[in-house]
Amino acid sequence: MPEPILRLEAVGKHFGGVVVLEDVSFDVRAGSRHALIGPNGAGKTTLFNVISGVFPPDEGRVLLDGLDLAGVPSRRRIGMGMARSFQNIRLMPHLSVVENVMLGQHARPGLLRKLKPVGLLPKSRERDEALEVLDRFGLDAYRGQVVANLPYGIRKKIEVVRALMAEPRLLLLDEPAAGLNSTETAALRDFLMEVSARGVTLLVVEHDMPFVNSLCEHVTVMNFGRRIYDGPAAGAREDEAVLDAYLGTHHKKGASDAA
Ligand SMILES: Nc1ncnc2c1ncn2[C@@H]1O[C@H](COP(=O)(O)OP(=O)(O)OP(=O)(O)O)[C@@H](O)[C@H]1O
Ligand SMILES: [Mg+2]
Repeated sequence: MPEPILRLEAVGKHFGGVVVLEDVSFDVRAGSRHALIGPNGAGKTTLFNVISGVFPPDEGRVLLDGLDLAGVPSRRRIGMGMARSFQNIRLMPHLSVVENVMLGQHARPGLLRKLKPVGLLPKSRERDEALEVLDRFGLDAYRGQVVANLPYGIRKKIEVVRALMAEPRLLLLDEPAAGLNSTETAALRDFLMEVSARGVTLLVVEHDMPFVNSLCEHVTVMNFGRRIYDGPAAGAREDEAVLDAYLGTHHKKGASDAA
């Protein structure tokens, strides 16, 4: 087996006396489309924060390409090939769509970019790239609009596009389909399939199970800060612990519409 792109080893995190993550271990295979699911409060976003370096784990390790990320700040993790979107939108509301997307380019690895201070770069090529991605995602019509004036669903998509502009090898998405209608969700799924086909590994937190099932082949399920399932997506739908987590212990009566 090739080395996983991301490995979590017995990760633990507590806030005060509250244990939010406990002994969480799993691998994300390079090139895979991997979902991280679980009920509200299970610890999914906290785990994303640990992976992306928002705060350190209290126990355990996070490894990218076999390299222990302890002490590596989040900005450098982006340069190492990891980008993320946030559950709550974090765009610059007063900038235009294309300006927001261009901001995602500045975290790219590459000596040339690091040597050129932001603001002094010839903007035309970066702008063209940003416009091309917006066009591919059907967002061309919004390119010049100020983000603050746009509907929620559109802003969610722009966040994903911005994360992609860093040219990550590993893309972490926290509820990318939340607030999208079914047409928008299908478009997002197709777009992420395309991204995946170009070799980007996806780790996706999502509550929308049809979306998860149509995008991801591998699923890790969390409940109360612990990993309760890690394996093929199909297996999760029949797993007793997963059904219990979503439906309580009485799931056997009506498990057909499970998870
Ligand atoms: N900074 C913090 N301080 C204290 N408690 C926190 C903090 N961040 C998260 N928690 C708690 O940790 C638990 C897990 O939260 P987290 O946001 O990781 O869950 P989640 O799985 O992402 O849930 P959701 O599906 O609702 O987004 C929750 O009980 C939450 O209240
Ligand atoms: Mg969350």
